[in-house]
Amino acid sequence: MKQFKIVILLFTLYTASVKSQHLEDYKLWLKYGRIESKTVLQSYADLVSQVYFPAGNEVLENAKNELATALPNMLGKPVEFSKNLAESTLIIDRYDQLPNALQKLIKEDVDNLNDEGYVIKTVAYNDKNISLVSAKTNIGILYGTFRLLNLMQMNEDLAGVSLADSPKIDLRILNHWDNLDRSVERGYAGFSLWNWQKLPEYIDQRYIDYARANASVGINATVLTNVNANALVLTPMYLEKVEALAKVFRGYGIKVYLTARFSAPIEIGNLKTADPLNEEVQKWWSNKAKEIYARIPDFGGFLVKANSEGQPGPQNYGRNHVDGANMMATALKPFGGNVIWRAFVYSEHDDTDRAKQAYDEFLPYDGKFKDNVVVQVKNGAIDFQPREPFHPLFGALKETPIAMEFQITQEYLGFSTHLVFLPKLFIEVLEADTYQKGPGSTVAKVVDGSLYNNAISAMAGVSNIGNDLNWTGHPFAQANWYGFGRLAWNPYLSADEIAEEWLRTTYSNDKKFIEPIKEMMLTSREAVVNYMNPLGLHHIFDTGHHYGPGPWVDNLSRPDWNPVYYHKADENGIGFDRTDTGSNATEQYAPFLEKKFNDPATTPEMFLLWFHHLPWDYKLKSGNSLWDGIALKYQKGVDQVSTMNATWENAKPFLTAHEYEEVKMLLQIQLKEAKWWRNACLLYFQTFSKRPLPKGVEQPNKSLEEYRSLKFPFAPGIRPQWN
Ligand code: GCU
Repeated sequence: MKQFKIVILLFTLYTASVKSQHLEDYKLWLKYGRIESKTVLQSYADLVSQVYFPAGNEVLENAKNELATALPNMLGKPVEFSKNLAESTLIIDRYDQLPNALQKLIKEDVDNLNDEGYVIKTVAYNDKNISLVSAKTNIGILYGTFRLLNLMQMNEDLAGVSLADSPKIDLRILNHWDNLDRSVERGYAGFSLWNWQKLPEYIDQRYIDYARANASVGINATVLTNVNANALVLTPMYLEKVEALAKVFRGYGIKVYLTARFSAPIEIGNLKTADPLNEEVQKWWSNKAKEIYARIPDFGGFLVKANSEGQPGPQNYGRNHVDGANMMATALKPFGGNVIWRAFVYSEHDDTDRAKQAYDEFLPYDGKFKDNVVVQVKNGAIDFQPREPFHPLFGALKETPIAMEFQITQEYLGFSTHLVFLPKLFIEVLEADTYQKGPGSTVAKVVDGSLYNNAISAMAGVSNIGNDLNWTGHPFAQANWYGFGRLAWNPYLSADEIAEEWLRTTYSNDKKFIEPIKEMMLTSREAVVNYMNPLGLHHIFDTGHHYGPGPWVDNLSRPDWNPVYYHKADENGIGFDRTDTGSNATEQYAPFLEKKFNDPATTPEMFLLWFHHLPWDYKLKSGNSLWDGIALKYQKGVDQVSTMNATWENAKPFLTAHEYEEVKMLLQIQLKEAKWWRNACLLYFQTFSKRPLPKGVEQPNKSLEEYRSLKFPFAPGIRPQWN
């Protein structure tokens, strides 16, 4: 019996180790696995046979360490660092440190770099070809080193390489919505990485690996705390802990920001008011800035959510966003800090279409903010939906630096269970033409600052990182962190390139694996739109946690929190009329787009029900009625997830048992949930359309009542309830 129990135990342990998250997943895209191809191996061995890499500074040491760990793993032998530049085959050094003869060979490339850029180039030196990684700054060297290792992981041919690259956006920043109790708002990958209890003394290896991963894709800033802020993080006890994190991150070129609760002067400063025009309040913030910078000389600044969803702000004192932001900007200015002020505002006291409110409120402030203020705007006007048209503030704010806020965590995209490759979504927004300065005025050009020559450019991503072994819950969600970083560096990259890079550094260089899996990633975003929110439908998620469908919800305290507000389904049809006969949100776009969006015939069908309320028998471009079209899209989404399952099944020979199993389990849940979405939404909308499901659409196997009765009080992403 005892033996039998041991066998069972061993079996359980074995299967558990095969199925659950695996230590390998922890390494992200920095696996540095052994290179298989003999020719590649030989050429890299030649390339690095003698490496000249003087360090002597923390950032450079970190770069050198990365190389010293990665190369032996990839090449199977230790790396030889040499002090003799003349004899080296690979030289990694700052431009100003290089001998003249070498400088000359790369002068032109280096002249074109910005302060964070790098050059990787094969040059003829001392009668032989050598490889050179150089940059104007230490951080450029770190980025260049990571890029070299990235190219090696992808087995790229490096003989004759000539590459010069600089980030196009200044501030590439993660926004952690992490609370001080380590819960993570909209977090689906465990608890917060920041172990406030053990800081500042205890430095978790995770902090270092987090910084490495960020630096490897060029992320150079991080906001540690939730936008729904707690003032305590600004007290000395916490600042000491923040200081310890900042110290680790500094070595990887990452600046720390904190969220600043507007009412902090009252809550932790014993003042009676937080009025931004009150002198004592101004002094309090100036002193706070001084205190922070004494600890963290390169502190980035504050991210502020004010007068939004119950957060305090200047309006509590009859002041406006400019008063609030400029007051904090004045406090930070002497130390070089920034204020990132969010424009995610909508009021329960205003019955204007929620999609219009942020534009209406912020446009009049254009040009009124101090020069160290950046206004951070979500990609769409509602809230990180599977698909939204770009936010009309992009291109409309002309004299105000505007940061793009993307959500990497999948609040409205199936949490960390669904495989959704987000760079597709991000790029759709970045490529959108605002027409605000004529055709070609893309959102990317607004965000990188080139359209209006803004002083600061910024892209923020709401982090999907937690303390799960694999960091992001779903192994493929790592690609969204990776992809965000790559796009923040260069918003003109293609989704194809990003998916390919990530697959090759994370899984395999085998084309037979990459091609179908890349295809799966590239279609995954459209699949989720189809099975959740097709044809411009939006915000039909269940209450609060946003897990699963809730198109029927109509009982929340604020009208604009209810799904029925957004889809407006009735017997006549479905959709939100935002045209000139409706809320007129279309007028917030440039005239060319306004006209286009005002007419259902010229509105891209992917945004149809975002802008129009249309009859159930409205004829779509396919010739189908709107009702049939919606139903067929839901079905298509489910079919796409079935195909994703089959694609993964076919990839089995290229995967280890755990790699195969973990994604397989997740894809099966995704399929189950895609069907749930299809069935629940169609049954509900059918109560209005009163039409049968078209041919090809599977009949739901449960009743609408059953779907409506589902409750998830413990769904993740909202504050845990301890009792
Ligand atoms: C969404 C999200 C909230 C978050 C808010 C924000 O509404 O559901 O959890 O606080 O966005 O971006 O501030």
